[in-house]
Amino acid sequence: ATNRTFTMIKPDAVSNGFTGAILDDIIKGGFKIVALKYIALTAATAGEFYAVHKSRPFYGDLVKFMSSGPIVAAILEKDNAVEDFRKLIGATDPAKADAGTIRNKYAKSIEANAVHGSDSDENAEIEGNFYFSAFERF
Ligand code: CMP
Repeated sequence: ATNRTFTMIKPDAVSNGFTGAILDDIIKGGFKIVALKYIALTAATAGEFYAVHKSRPFYGDLVKFMSSGPIVAAILEKDNAVEDFRKLIGATDPAKADAGTIRNKYAKSIEANAVHGSDSDENAEIEGNFYFSAFERF
């Protein structure tokens, strides 16, 4: 069935000028853009978004990094969206991401890994709702 996932183009990829190329890869990968915005997270907002990782050793650095510059947030639609998007972006650690994946092409480290992708349908819904109201999705 057609379903949705949520993504962020992270501050490293935005500041390195990869926003257009990444959106192009996403669209060519068969995803339809349902919602899109260019915003800067505060530390508080980034901390809330990543609250599930609060007890992890990398949480503080992750929050600092995600609030270090603007990001692009989007809701994407495709059959099998969550799983297919994770295939398109590759492994969390870009050193382990398959050739041709977005993280393989545009990311430098496990923290500055170019993009976020939801890990389940349930989290895709929660994460999309975190950023977008009903009036902002089409
Ligand atoms: P993301 O898919 O956005 O979800 C959580 C993020 O935490 C992940 O991408 C990485 O950017 C980051 N992350 C995961 N593991 C580590 C780690 N070991 N060190 C630093 N950052 C990490």
